[in-house]
Amino acid sequence: MYATTLTTNDAEACVLLENEAFPENLRATREKILYRLRENSGLCLGIKATVFPNHHSSTPYRTMATFPVAVKFADTTTRRPSKFQPRSSILLGHVICTLSESKVINDAGMALPPDWETATSYQTKYPELGNKPLGRTLCIHSLAVLEGVRDFGVASLLLNELAKRMKTHDVVDRIALICEGKLVKFYQSRGFKKVGESDVKFGGVPWFDMVRELSYLDA
Ligand SMILES: CC(C)(COP(=O)(O)OP(=O)(O)OC[C@H]1O[C@@H](n2cnc3c(N)ncnc32)[C@H](O)[C@@H]1OP(=O)(O)O)[C@@H](O)C(=O)NCCC(=O)NCCS
Repeated sequence: MYATTLTTNDAEACVLLENEAFPENLRATREKILYRLRENSGLCLGIKATVFPNHHSSTPYRTMATFPVAVKFADTTTRRPSKFQPRSSILLGHVICTLSESKVINDAGMALPPDWETATSYQTKYPELGNKPLGRTLCIHSLAVLEGVRDFGVASLLLNELAKRMKTHDVVDRIALICEGKLVKFYQSRGFKKVGESDVKFGGVPWFDMVRELSYLDA
């Protein structure tokens, strides 16, 4: 298992994971995922596992059989030639982010600029929407872990790795996200503070603003 930066090459795996993890009203569309990866690929992380699709013996590595639920997520295009066994990487979890000038997540930051395919954040005709390249708040729009590997610490690893990378590179001052009430305790125990009820209308459910201020002293 390893943590890695996600790029637009990972978009299809992210879309599959997103669709598995969230009900329709709460998931990001393929376009939003592509836009966010394109704008901020360095700030979006994944946890991947290498698997050997055709190998079920006593290998020290995990086989595809270890993650039966994940078979459809395997990227079989990453095979190695000749003496190496075929291998695939599976996206076990992702965290997809944009930057914001607001201290908490808002609907404008979650929106997709209509000209996203042709313009970058700097060129768009809709500067109030989507990613703000100079923002000092990292907004997590999606944290998702494949159902078959939940409760093994993948999400915690992603959150820690994200904070560590942000501190190391002094990219942002804080990490913000919104969550439903049932996950407030989970995020509190991972360093986030509950700010209060969010103004975000996305998905038509009540959200709480959660923020983790980053201290560079302990980077
Ligand atoms: C929430 C989620 C990302 C956690 O991933 P994970 O890899 O299983 O998380 P970890 O193993 O690091 O930690 C598991 C913790 O999450 C908590 N948790 C997960 N789902 C929960 C739920 N629906 N309600 C309450 N707590 C939940 C577990 O109780 C556990 O808490 P503890 O370790 O403090 O006891 C994962 O369950 C998921 O993808 N869910 C669907 C998508 C989602 O809701 N994403 C969050 C959007 S804000």
